[in-house]
Amino acid sequence: MSATLSETKTESASFSVTPLAAVAGAEITGIDVSKDLADEHFAALRNAWLDHNGVLAIRDQTLTPEQLLAFSRRFGPLFGEAEQLQDTVKKYLLPGHPGIYRVSNKVRDGKPLGRARAGTYWHSDVSFRKHPAMASILYAIEIPPVGGDTLFASMTAAYDSLSPGFKWKLQNLRAVHDFALAAGSSYSPDVIEQGDFDGQNRYLHPVVITHPETARKALFVNPGFTSHVEGFSQEESRALLGFLYRHATRPEFTYRHRWRRNDLLIWDNRCLMHYAIADYEGKGERYLHRTTVIAETPRA
Ligand code: SIN
Repeated sequence: MSATLSETKTESASFSVTPLAAVAGAEITGIDVSKDLADEHFAALRNAWLDHNGVLAIRDQTLTPEQLLAFSRRFGPLFGEAEQLQDTVKKYLLPGHPGIYRVSNKVRDGKPLGRARAGTYWHSDVSFRKHPAMASILYAIEIPPVGGDTLFASMTAAYDSLSPGFKWKLQNLRAVHDFALAAGSSYSPDVIEQGDFDGQNRYLHPVVITHPETARKALFVNPGFTSHVEGFSQEESRALLGFLYRHATRPEFTYRHRWRRNDLLIWDNRCLMHYAIADYEGKGERYLHRTTVIAETPRA
């Protein structure tokens, strides 16, 4: 039996929405976001994004950097334009377009074209800032024939399935998020810069946050950037966070995106973690442009 397919019609246009997984994700066809979408049309797309728990795969897009930026700005101000990202990523920004971060294993004239192993661990983008990432928008220009999928874990589904007693225990906890954690582990030494260790990429957030648009609660901790729970010993933190990570990444809370060239993937960092699978070494080139929309400060 095929997945339910719904047609979303507004006065100006229509597009099709097909769920991709039970927990999160929908495929969108029949829309061209390189065009200046009417407000009503953009609102329908944004509602589909929220309704499908924060992952939309818009197929068959052809976007210049300017068109990707113009579409992304409709979600809100962008990192690289309204606020700088951490120093480490500066060298991966697209020259002349600081709002675009290049994710790629391509090397030209001995220089990497983008960050090759970006996000190869569970994380929520920029969670170490007062204003973390709201949407991340990733446009696939080149994709290897196999490998390079991206995994998503629904932190809303993970929160919902906890017992009332455990939810109650979590309700007033806060955790420190610190980019130096990733810089010191998953990132190779050549991309660590002093600015990553001086506290400008460190922030304290509630362990459970309320999504400002859907009002649903979600866990807001991740192995990439969360260093410890406030007021807990390292051992206690590791025990609690370790449980939450094992719980949140249970298969039934995840969606695995198998990329197609010209996919435009939009995910919501306020209710999802993601993980880029680095399994395509020697299998082909991967080149994507990412824009990152700035969120409000998360609230419990
Ligand atoms: C990221 O974490 O933004 C990279 C995701 C990917 O390369 O699939």
